[in-house]
Amino acid sequence: MHPVELSSARLALRELRTTDVDDLAQVYGDPEAVRHLSFTPRTREQCAAIVKAAIADAEQGNRGVYMLAVAREDRLVGSARLAVDERPHSAQVGFALRPDLWGQGFGCELVELLLRLGFDELGLKRIWGARSPENQASESVMLRAGMVEEGRIRRHLWTRDAWRDSIVHSILDDEWKPGSPDEKP
Ligand SMILES: CC(C)(COP(=O)(O)OP(=O)(O)OC[C@H]1O[C@@H](n2cnc3c(N)ncnc32)[C@H](O)[C@@H]1OP(=O)(O)O)[C@@H](O)C(=O)NCCC(=O)NCCS
Repeated sequence: MHPVELSSARLALRELRTTDVDDLAQVYGDPEAVRHLSFTPRTREQCAAIVKAAIADAEQGNRGVYMLAVAREDRLVGSARLAVDERPHSAQVGFALRPDLWGQGFGCELVELLLRLGFDELGLKRIWGARSPENQASESVMLRAGMVEEGRIRRHLWTRDAWRDSIVHSILDDEWKPGSPDEKP
C-alpha cells in the first residue's frame, strides 16, 4: 500500500518526506524518548538515513515495511512502524512520540491508527508489539488498544550494554474493535 494516508481526530499517519528530518530528530534524538528503545539517541544524519531508507521501502513493489510519520497538522510529531513478518498474516508495530506531547492520549490514538492500517488496509490477522518490561507507558497504550500481554521473550535484545527481555503484546483481527481512544471514559 502506497501512499499511506490515514487520519483520526487529532493525528495522521502519512509517508515520511525528506523535509521531516529535523522533526524526526526531535523524537529519535531525545534521550527520554528512546530510553526504552533498542537504540541510543540518533543524530540528525542518522535520522536523514532513516527517512531515506523509509522512502525507498515505501516504493518497493511488495512492501513489507511501513515506516511512517505521525503528523499533527501535517508536521511530524512521532514515528509509527509496521513490519510484516515472514509469515505475512502477521506484523510487528513500533511507535514513538515527541515527549512534550505525552500524557494527552496521543499514544492511544496512534496505536489505533496502526491497527487500522494493519487490519483494515492490509488485511492482517495478527498484530504484535514488544516492549521493555519497564516501559509502563507502552504497556498502558497497548493494553488500552486491546493488545493483550502474550508473554516474555527472554534476552530478546542487546541494548546499550546489556541483554534485555521484552514483553510481547498482540491482538487478532477478530478481537479488534475500532474505537475512539481519544475519548477516554
Ligand atoms: C509510549 C508513548 C507513545 C505513549 O504516548 P502517550 O501519548 O503518552 O500515551 P497516552 O497519553 O495515550 O497514555 C496512554 C496510557 O499510558 C499512560 N502513561 C503515559 N505515560 C506514562 C508513563 N510515563 N508512565 C506510566 N504510564 C504512562 C497513561 O496514563 C495512559 O494510561 P491509561 O490508559 O490507563 O489512562 C510515549 O510514551 C512514547 O513515545 N514513548 C517513547 C517511545 C516508546 O517507548 N515507544 C514504545 C515502544 S514499545
